[in-house]
Amino acid sequence: MEGLFLRFLLRTITSLVFCLLLTHCSRGQSESVDSLQPIVARVGDDVVLPCQIKPSLDVSAATLEWKRSNLFVLVWRTGADFKRQKDPSYRGRTSLFPDELKHGNVSLKLSDVKLSDKGMYRCYVVEKNREMFVELVVVSVPGCSPVISLSRMDRDRGGVVLQCESRGWYPEPEVLWLDAEGNLLSAGPPETVRGPDDLYTVSSRVTVDKRHNNSFTC
Ligand SMILES: *[C@@H]1O[C@H](CO)[C@@H](O)[C@H](O)[C@H]1NC(C)=O
Ligand SMILES: *[C@@H]1O[C@H](CO)[C@@H](O)[C@H](O)[C@H]1NC(C)=O
Repeated sequence: MEGLFLRFLLRTITSLVFCLLLTHCSRGQSESVDSLQPIVARVGDDVVLPCQIKPSLDVSAATLEWKRSNLFVLVWRTGADFKRQKDPSYRGRTSLFPDELKHGNVSLKLSDVKLSDKGMYRCYVVEKNREMFVELVVVSVPGCSPVISLSRMDRDRGGVVLQCESRGWYPEPEVLWLDAEGNLLSAGPPETVRGPDDLYTVSSRVTVDKRHNNSFTC
C-alpha cells in the first residue's frame, strides 16, 4: 500500500517537473524576439544580420548555426568558424564577432551581398535550442544616371519621341518623366527586361512638343 502511494507521488512529481521544464523552455524561447524589420542591403554592400540571445548568456563555447532555408551560412563549433560545413556560395563572406559571443550577440557579418542572398535567415544556438529569424532584402540601384536619347520625330503630332533607359535595378523600378517645371508627363508603360544577372533594365518613351528650349527629366 505504501509502495503504491510512493509510486503515485513520484509520478505526480515527475509530471510536475516536466511541466515546469516545458513552461521554462517555452518562456525562454519567446524572449528571443525576432528582428521584425527586414534588413535592407544593396548588392555589393557588407551587412550585419542581428541576433541577440536574451537573456544574455555566453555562447562562445556553444554550437551556433546560421542558415538560409537549408543552406549553411555559417557554423560555429568548438570556439571557431567551422568553415567546412559552410555552403560554397557563402565561403569567405560570412563571419561572427567572436568578442561579442560572450554577451550572447551572435550577429552575422555578410560581405559583398549578392541578389541571391535574399531571404529568411535563422540564427540557432544548438545546445540551448534558441532560434531567431531575420529577413534580408537585397536591392540594386545603378551607379549611373538614366540615359535620355532622341528616339524619333513624331511628325503627326509635331513632336519628338524621347527615350530613357536605365540598367542595373532590383526590384523593378518605376519610371517618371518631368518637364522643366516639374510637371509629370504622361508616358506609356515602360519596357522591362531582366538580364542574366537578374537585374532589370527599363526603358520608357514619351512624346514631347518640339520646343528647343525645354528640358526633361527621367
Ligand atoms: C552585436 O555586435 C555587433 C558587432 O560588434 C554590433 O554592431 C551590434 O550592435 C551588437 N548587437 C547588440 C545587441 O549589442
Ligand atoms: C521657352 O522659351 C519661351 C519663349 O522664349 C518661353 O516663353 C518659355 O517659358 C521657355 N520655356 C522654358 C521651359 O524655359
